[in-house]
Amino acid sequence: MSGPLHGPGQPAGPRVALTPEQRAALGGPVLTMPTAADMRALGARLAGVLRAGDLVVLTGPLGAGKTVLVQGIGAGLDVRGVVVSPTFVIARVHRPARPGGVPLVHVDAYRLGSLDEVDDLDLDVDMADAVTVVEWGAGLVEHLNDARLEIAMARAPDSEERTVRLMPFGGDWAARVASLAP
Ligand SMILES: Nc1ncnc2c1ncn2[C@@H]1O[C@H](COP(=O)(O)OP(=O)(O)OP(=O)(O)O)[C@@H](O)[C@H]1O
Ligand SMILES: [Mg+2]
Repeated sequence: MSGPLHGPGQPAGPRVALTPEQRAALGGPVLTMPTAADMRALGARLAGVLRAGDLVVLTGPLGAGKTVLVQGIGAGLDVRGVVVSPTFVIARVHRPARPGGVPLVHVDAYRLGSLDEVDDLDLDVDMADAVTVVEWGAGLVEHLNDARLEIAMARAPDSEERTVRLMPFGGDWAARVASLAP
């Protein structure tokens, strides 16, 4: 892990919508990512099945690789700007690099305390027109979209390896997950 990624302030996270046991019971394929490059590549592949209006919620401890995955999604969606872990900014909008592309809204909800704050982000893009990816969003942003992909990430204590569980909720997410991890 490369240093603290969150500023001082008063972190509200982590919130846990489900216990680890409940998450495991939900199933969904678990992928192993040996390196950060693999994680970026997964993000880029995921971008291939994303479309405007999608909500993706990332869970996992500090340094799990959530932002690295979003970097891959940003590359796959071909958006402008560098995807970084926002320290003092809660959300960033990355505009598509090409006409007809889909903007990426990258939210880090670590310091958000309530549902209202997410609604109050007052982004200059409509969620319906963008792909929204939220780090630390479990238990906080589900109301934004009945259908969502939740990605639970874990890290081994003494290796670079990360595991990624893709958990589809509603919509056509199950089919899309199956196409990613048959
Ligand atoms: N297999 C891997 N997958 C992803 N990242 C990895 C892997 N191996 C090493 N890393 C490193 O781990 C770090 C992951 O940091 P990242 O900022 O993505 O975590 P995060 O989950 O967003 O943390 P935070 O909760 O602080 O936002 C990066 O420095 C990355 O290079
Ligand atoms: Mg992060």
